[in-house]
Amino acid sequence: MALYVKAAEVLEKAERKESSVKTLVYNSQFQNIKQLFALVSETLKYSAVLEEIISSTGLLKEKKLKMHVAKVLVYDLLFGRGLKCGGSWKVLLLRQQPRLQAALARLKVRRKVCRNEDLLCAAGRDAAEDVVPRYVRVNTLKTNVEDVIDYLKRDGFSYLGQASRLEDLRRLSGKNFIGDLHLPELLVFPPRTDFHSHFLYQAGHIILQDKASCLPACLLQPPPGAHVLDACAAPGNKTSHLAALLGNKGKLFAFDLDPKRLATMSTLLLRAGVTCQELAAQDFLKVDPDDPKYGRVEYLLLDPSCSGSGMAGRRGERVAPEEEERRLQALAGFQLRCLRHALRFPSLRRLVYSTCSTHAQENEEVVQACLQEHGASYRLVPLLPSWQERGHAPLSQCLRASPSETLTHGFFVAMLERRGPGEEQEEQGRCSLPAASVTSSAAPPDSEAGEEPQQRAAAAETQTVGAKTRRKRKKKRRPAAQGD
Ligand SMILES: C[S@@+](CC[C@H](N)C(=O)[O-])C[C@H]1O[C@@H](n2cnc3c(N)ncnc32)[C@H](O)[C@@H]1O
Repeated sequence: MALYVKAAEVLEKAERKESSVKTLVYNSQFQNIKQLFALVSETLKYSAVLEEIISSTGLLKEKKLKMHVAKVLVYDLLFGRGLKCGGSWKVLLLRQQPRLQAALARLKVRRKVCRNEDLLCAAGRDAAEDVVPRYVRVNTLKTNVEDVIDYLKRDGFSYLGQASRLEDLRRLSGKNFIGDLHLPELLVFPPRTDFHSHFLYQAGHIILQDKASCLPACLLQPPPGAHVLDACAAPGNKTSHLAALLGNKGKLFAFDLDPKRLATMSTLLLRAGVTCQELAAQDFLKVDPDDPKYGRVEYLLLDPSCSGSGMAGRRGERVAPEEEERRLQALAGFQLRCLRHALRFPSLRRLVYSTCSTHAQENEEVVQACLQEHGASYRLVPLLPSWQERGHAPLSQCLRASPSETLTHGFFVAMLERRGPGEEQEEQGRCSLPAASVTSSAAPPDSEAGEEPQQRAAAAETQTVGAKTRRKRKKKRRPAAQGD
């Protein structure tokens, strides 16, 4: 029974994203941490499935069982190696077993799957795809927001104006669409709206990009004429976004290790009308920061390979907990090495670090480990105060994103800014962050199988990103429908 009580406690904290499962399990003081870790990790994977089964059988009404206790018990009963407890919980669960098994069978029929593990991808993908709206980024290199809205209205869509709260995005249906709450170049449509064969998409006037994935370039905000480096760039949605913010003026150095992904990216950038790029199929870690070519690089976007746990459909992949842990460690080590390397560019002023992972290990822990070494020279910029889902404490300056909280895929963004010379001395030796558990000694993982004080104040005070871009947009009016 003690195992299930502790597992339910850890599960609840993990679902609230208080910390990684590993950290929570280590801090739990439970004797058999291996057993606890395995049970919580597995239950977490099946969490949505278990919730559906439990709700449909009314199990919680019996003996006032709490959801998290029910989840760990039902996991072991239906998917694990059987219950490892006696007492009233065992009696209750064994009595309910036929109903629970029937609910599981019905769910498999509904989802058209045979194996338990197939429920994982289907559940994650379906749930997120039904919730996350279709986000459309207007490509300002080819058109502007007003013209795209006009075109879509002529095409039978109804524009509902600018959203004023998240609820407006949740309520979209049919052919209605709305302007996004935070990002001026983003239009929002009901989930599953398909634009892949639409003229505006085919002509590169609109880019189909999740809102969370638009945050890194928007927050980095390089001004036209700047030199920018995109370290792990393919397939290039964020690169084309950076080029749009630059108005194709300046220089955009983009690297990717994978030549095939880089070739796809080249086609995408051509369609998007990007001309300021210099692409290289190269390991970013081998790029020489002291090469005079990069002497003017002030803005850097680092969106390295990650577990992709925030992406619907990849979330539920079934991997043994030990293997998953090893993979996360290797990824976090690689991410930290990239971050350290990025900070070596001599003229760097601002860096955005982002992942489509929900694991603290690849997010806050990487940033913390980096700040422990570089905290005297770089500070974290507080991002978008109106964004409700924040980085785990103490890194509340960073943003997190998820289908449930922000109506996006799972994502993490941090922005580092170089301190001024005076501040640097003042802050020396005052870095008081708690010890982070990432070490960069881990071998780099395989490449992705599967993103001045005044400016800082502006970032902190404005709710909408890119107000400057929106003003500029008014000046530039070119018909969206006429193709380039
Ligand atoms: C998350 S994806 C980048 C997505 C991209 N920023 C976008 O928005 O379209 C990570 C990319 O990093 C690349 N990558 C992995 N290791 C790398 C390295 N050492 N140097 C450069 N690129 C690398 C992978 O090939 C993959 O394309």
